[in-house]
Amino acid sequence: MPRCLLSFDQGTTSSRAILFSTEGQILATGQREFTQHFPKPGWVEHDPEEIWQSTLASTREALAASGCALSDIAAAGITNQRETTIVWERASGKPVYNAIVWQDRRTADVCQQLKADAELEPRIAAKTGLLLDPYFSATKLAWILDNVDGARERAERGELAFGTVDTFLLWRLTGGKVHATDASNASRTLLFNIHSQQWDEELLQLFRIPAALLPEVKDSAADYGRVDSSLFGAEIAIGGVAGDQQAALVGQACFRPGMAKSTYGTGCFMVMNTGNEALKSTHRLLTTVAYRINGETTYALEGSIFMAGATIQWIRDGLNLISSACETQSLAEATGYENPVYMVPAFTGLGAPYWDPQARGAIMGLTRDTGIKEIVTAGLQAVCYQTRDLLEAMALDGVEPAQLRVDGGMVVNGWLVQFLADVLGIPIACPKVTETTALGAAFLAGLQVGVYQSLDDVEAFWVHDRAYQPKLEESQRQHLYEGWLNAVQRVRCGS
Ligand code: G3P
Repeated sequence: MPRCLLSFDQGTTSSRAILFSTEGQILATGQREFTQHFPKPGWVEHDPEEIWQSTLASTREALAASGCALSDIAAAGITNQRETTIVWERASGKPVYNAIVWQDRRTADVCQQLKADAELEPRIAAKTGLLLDPYFSATKLAWILDNVDGARERAERGELAFGTVDTFLLWRLTGGKVHATDASNASRTLLFNIHSQQWDEELLQLFRIPAALLPEVKDSAADYGRVDSSLFGAEIAIGGVAGDQQAALVGQACFRPGMAKSTYGTGCFMVMNTGNEALKSTHRLLTTVAYRINGETTYALEGSIFMAGATIQWIRDGLNLISSACETQSLAEATGYENPVYMVPAFTGLGAPYWDPQARGAIMGLTRDTGIKEIVTAGLQAVCYQTRDLLEAMALDGVEPAQLRVDGGMVVNGWLVQFLADVLGIPIACPKVTETTALGAAFLAGLQVGVYQSLDDVEAFWVHDRAYQPKLEESQRQHLYEGWLNAVQRVRCGS
């Protein structure tokens, strides 16, 4: 009887593979970081070959460490950095250009020009749940077609394929046999109608995308073919695909409307399950597909922040103020909450709820006695204040969560999570298994191959580890947050 599930977790800074027991316990992990390319200010690219090689290497590492035989693996799931756009040749599988990463802002002007027609953005939002922002795939894909020699003509002739990272990996893992994505990833492209669950003809025309490029859109738990036996030594069924934030919602067992999770990775993404209602935000949050199972779509409301862990990475590698992220906790403890320094990490513009691609970062409130600890603390606090921005927007949309489940690399910092509870004013829970993204993809794969009968079966595997209660006076909470709002106002474009 197969006893494990394999998860390919392809993130923004590293590719990981995790083997889970069917009860959701981690058996082994493999991980490979890869190069970030910044060819011009605001541009961010990855080499798809490096994404592929790091996926292979991390999987081999996990398989070797696990002691699991390949016949022990019931199925594999794929989860991925979303929106990142790749175009490759169908004949050779070779990419025609680097992956344009979700953080890349090169198409900000195109989005701005489109916004000149005031009716366009609301029309696009009504269909896709998204806004006109360079974050999403459509304008990145059009950029490749317009800037790579011959790409548009070749795309029209059906010689090229487009995919987000899940689709590219699926193509490679199946030896070019499967060109597909799932509804959660499709919902991040600006080309997919989340109500009809189809690629949208009008949007394809608007962004000038030939339909011949597009993958088939499947359920998040579905038959995605088999991993080619030449790669790891035997075939493995691929049964689950989901964008990383939606997979984390599954891994956090947020299966009922009103349940929410926030993941602190490169960026921070707060996602709330809204059930089968595609709740339309009036406060610039995104409506997105959480997952689609047996043809039934569960929707979510999402707030996306571009810089969370990446802020601390910048403090470490860009400024050299610390040598390791673990130092941030003691520095913040020494600073305390009443830090006069505010950092707005708008390095790649501001995401939700501001959506200001032209905003740039700033550190404010410096005095002669400001030192490293205040700047580091301001970086941590910025992540929490941005989460409060999202919670405020959700509250204005009428759907405030009563509790937040958190995960991601940053939540090992207990000071950060307590400050988060204090700034948000709601309890925070951390699960025992914090690899929720990979776990969600594994659960979806297990669902497809019959390890689980329904999502109810996996709910029991969510085990509580740490809880944080808000302790701050309301007036102090407000005072700190107002300082943040003031700082944001000062970096907004045109202010
Ligand atoms: O939307 C971008 C997101 O999917 C990236 O996630 O975990 O790589 O920061 P992460």
